[in-house]
Amino acid sequence: MHLQNRMKKYGLDFSPASIEMDSRKIIPGSVFVAVKGRFYDGHDYISQAIENGAKAVAGEMVYPGKRKGVIFVKTPKISEYMNSLAYDLYRANLEKMDLFGVTGTNGKTSTVYFLHSIFNHAAQKCSLTGTVENLIGKEHIPSVNTTPFAPELFKILSRSFDLGFHTCAMEISSHSLKEDRIHGLEFSGGIFTNITADHMDYHESMDDYINSKMLILSKMRNSAPMIINMDDPLLAKNEMIKKYANTVTFGQKGDFTIKETSLSSSNASYTFIYQTKSYDVELKLSGSFAVYNSLGAIALAVAKGMSVKTAVEGAEKLEMVPGRFQAIRMGNITVIVDYAHTPDALEKLLASVKQLQHESIITVFGAGGDRDNSKRPLMGKAVEKFSDLLIVTSDNPRTEDPEHIIDDILKGISDTAACKRITDRREAIRYAVKSAKEGDIIIIAGKGHEDYQILGNKKVHFSDLEEVKRIFNENK
Ligand SMILES: Nc1ncnc2c1ncn2[C@@H]1O[C@H](COP(=O)(O)OP(=O)(O)OP(=O)(O)O)[C@@H](O)[C@H]1O
Ligand SMILES: [Mg+2]
Repeated sequence: MHLQNRMKKYGLDFSPASIEMDSRKIIPGSVFVAVKGRFYDGHDYISQAIENGAKAVAGEMVYPGKRKGVIFVKTPKISEYMNSLAYDLYRANLEKMDLFGVTGTNGKTSTVYFLHSIFNHAAQKCSLTGTVENLIGKEHIPSVNTTPFAPELFKILSRSFDLGFHTCAMEISSHSLKEDRIHGLEFSGGIFTNITADHMDYHESMDDYINSKMLILSKMRNSAPMIINMDDPLLAKNEMIKKYANTVTFGQKGDFTIKETSLSSSNASYTFIYQTKSYDVELKLSGSFAVYNSLGAIALAVAKGMSVKTAVEGAEKLEMVPGRFQAIRMGNITVIVDYAHTPDALEKLLASVKQLQHESIITVFGAGGDRDNSKRPLMGKAVEKFSDLLIVTSDNPRTEDPEHIIDDILKGISDTAACKRITDRREAIRYAVKSAKEGDIIIIAGKGHEDYQILGNKKVHFSDLEEVKRIFNENK
């Protein structure tokens, strides 16, 4: 069906230039979708959207009809209207793409970077969407959500197609599955990294969280391969996965079996067995999760027909993932900046660090405000298990009292003698650097690639890496 005809179903008599939820992004000919969010109500911005050139406005609480050249569409469920309109607008390109969806609690970002590296190495031009950024060749499009809302996401994908990048490695968050932000998309393959508790503020229960993640199975094109980390107990025993027609497994057991692993502060190397043959992998990244995330990506590429050798080379080429186990050496002290912000991620991060040569382990961390608070004591507990000195500080407190967040974390720590509480993150990092002796490892967890801190409703510039470097330089 012709695009313009398809638009009729949405009450539109033209092909929109774009679909926008943010009135500031409207260009002449856009459709403005008024969505009521947690903090803002799109209906309050309708006049601004029209001033900026919106040719149509859709919302649950608009008065329908055409006024002063602008079409008003009233719809009972704006999110469904928006997702489906966005898909129909861009579908000609979307249908022709090879999309790979990565879901799981942790490891999505790192895994999509591996996929990106592997497919581009194999000369299959691949773009990427995710938490840190959206990437089409050399074009970096800033990212607000792990999985953008449908209008933004599909615009990026469609642009990727137009620029010749017909493959895309995508991070698929559970929020996006639940809200159907990937409405209409069909994946040519997927990866389940792991499932542990997170976002329990958003999902009603662990079952609800797992079930929303499982929705990805229904988005696979013709039983495309789904790669499963079998070392994750919840994934290994999940009935829906067991029933899925085309799973490929990896882990200590599985189709791709991890054998020896060795970690240094800047590298991880391992051997895996696939179809009775053994392969060596030398990554330029470290952390036990780099092993898992790279092998998941290799398994997917192989399941899609790539040779194991090419897939391994592609994974080995990846230089770094911003803010994931980013290690810097400052004299004889190693500093690792990592985005770990769940109990499981912290535990895995610290267990990996423990395997490196070290004297003391000093960990600086906090927890985000206005988000899942049940994980806070568990984060404290995970850090205590492996650290010699814990410095509990602020992450993004948002509108919560930072002291209150720290109190929650401390509830999980049994021996507070080895624990320092310094609310100001800059001061906390300074204290860690000042306390470190030769051979020590400092871990700064929680913010990774982020270059800001959210204090109240304000976003101020802040980068863990920059702070560390500045403090070391001051001390020279
Ligand atoms: N396979 C893994 N298993 C457990 N922890 C991991 C794994 N991969 C990465 N991590 C840890 O979790 C942190 C977050 O990883 P990553 O950013 O890749 O996750 P994500 O799934 O993209 O998270 P988000 O939902 O925030 O986008 C890393 O910095 C690391 O500490
Ligand atoms: Mg991510």
